[in-house]
Amino acid sequence: MREASLQYVRTNISPETGSFNTEAGFKGALNSVTAPGAKPMLPEDMKRYDKLAPGSVIVDAGCGLAIAARELGKKGMKVIAYSPSPIEINGLQQHQSENPGVHEGVTYVQAQTLSALELKPGSVHSIRIDRAIPYMTEEQRNQFFCDAKTALAPGGEVLCSFYHVSSRMEHGQAHALAEIVRSIVQAGLTPKSGGVFIDAVRPDGSQMRVLVDRLDAFTVESAELVSEDGNTGLANCEQTLHRIGQQCVKDGAFMYAVRVNVIAIKPDHE
Ligand SMILES: C[S@@+](CC[C@H](N)C(=O)[O-])C[C@H]1O[C@@H](n2cnc3c(N)ncnc32)[C@H](O)[C@@H]1O
Repeated sequence: MREASLQYVRTNISPETGSFNTEAGFKGALNSVTAPGAKPMLPEDMKRYDKLAPGSVIVDAGCGLAIAARELGKKGMKVIAYSPSPIEINGLQQHQSENPGVHEGVTYVQAQTLSALELKPGSVHSIRIDRAIPYMTEEQRNQFFCDAKTALAPGGEVLCSFYHVSSRMEHGQAHALAEIVRSIVQAGLTPKSGGVFIDAVRPDGSQMRVLVDRLDAFTVESAELVSEDGNTGLANCEQTLHRIGQQCVKDGAFMYAVRVNVIAIKPDHE
């Protein structure tokens, strides 16, 4: 079982981009996540969108199988889900043409960047980027948050989920919290802690995905303050995240991701 999960990742996912690397692999995974009774997103994750009115515009950046995009579409949101991967987007579009009811409210677009979507500035209420940052360069990440600020309506948010450096994954670049926070602050968005998920495979091969902790609140007032030793709140959070990683080792997980959520808010007055 343990070898089977590793083998699946190694065979089907490109280590450079985090995208599915074969049409057959993507199709099989998409059929399984859209099958009746398939596991939905964690309710804690989806709860963040309760405050949005139906019809709100949400972008899912680096959508992969687009599980979140479809759940949000079902809630009446207008979702634009993009990925640079033609395998993913062609697969999603084909599945949508064959099963339109499953993809209600979602538009799939192949794009390398958020700005390539050419969205009207200020027209987007929420942007989701779940585990695509591990496959971006620092420059791409900084540009992403700048583009997000332009696209978002005042008060709109980016929900950003990335792998912390305490993670042990097969691939994908891990980051310190301070690195992500720095990109967010430099773009003129305000970062807020958003909770921590653990994705792990236990020694018996069973998979675990839980919300384990909420980060302490942290305040970042200017880009100069954004360093691990220059901001006490951030440093405390970083320690908490390392403790969570150590706990995974003690619990015997052989592959685990400490997946951190940061919410980046566009100021109300802009
Ligand atoms: C690990 S998957 C995550 C998929 C999905 N968001 C989820 O959480 O299940 C990584 C995704 O990031 C996408 N990706 C890779 N580089 C990207 C980039 N520069 N911009 C946006 N998405 C990117 C990949 O194509 C893939 O869809």
